[in-house]
Amino acid sequence: GPHLAVVAAIAYFLGSIPFGLIISRLGGAGDIRKVGSGNIGATNVLRTGRKGLAASTLLLDALKGVAAVLIAHWITAAYTDYALGVAAFMAVFGHCFPIWLGFRGGKGVATGLGVTIALSPLTGAAACLVWLAVAKLAKISSAGALCAFALIPILLPAISEHPVYSPEPMAAAGYAILIFIRHYGNIVRLLRGEERHINIDPPAQR
Ligand code: G3P
Repeated sequence: GPHLAVVAAIAYFLGSIPFGLIISRLGGAGDIRKVGSGNIGATNVLRTGRKGLAASTLLLDALKGVAAVLIAHWITAAYTDYALGVAAFMAVFGHCFPIWLGFRGGKGVATGLGVTIALSPLTGAAACLVWLAVAKLAKISSAGALCAFALIPILLPAISEHPVYSPEPMAAAGYAILIFIRHYGNIVRLLRGEERHINIDPPAQR
């Protein structure tokens, strides 16, 4: 089958499509980078008050992750396990560091959920439930995301029965770490009790 670099490149470019930015602009909500946290993700699009645009962002950012893993599955034969892991990690990496935005992208939550669903639907479903439950209770999206991605590297090998030191669980640990790194500012604010809520913020919180 094709070299893993081909899989990595396809996944990176799929992941790098900034749907939050595109959808906000097309939907007439302006430049999402000038709203709330400045992030290009669905949570920040929701802060514009446009629920449909936020839901579309969540769905498309997740679907590009699903697509990256499915394409890796279709175009590789012998290296499938490695290819799935590489595709999953690179799709999240592409979302976080898109060449189109000077490598200033998002935090990887929706795309990370998408690739997790593609690697192991049950793990993905469990992660979505954890994210939604914590985010709803705390009214803080980052808190839900951090709980979900702390669990994914443990849940995925347990549920999918891939050995811990095999490509998929290793990739899950990799993109979970990347997502934690991208939430550095969120973690600092959470620890200080100053984290932004899901709803629209007063300008002072920006
Ligand atoms: O989707 C990213 C989320 O976990 C945090 O986003 O805008 O509250 O920093 P935000």
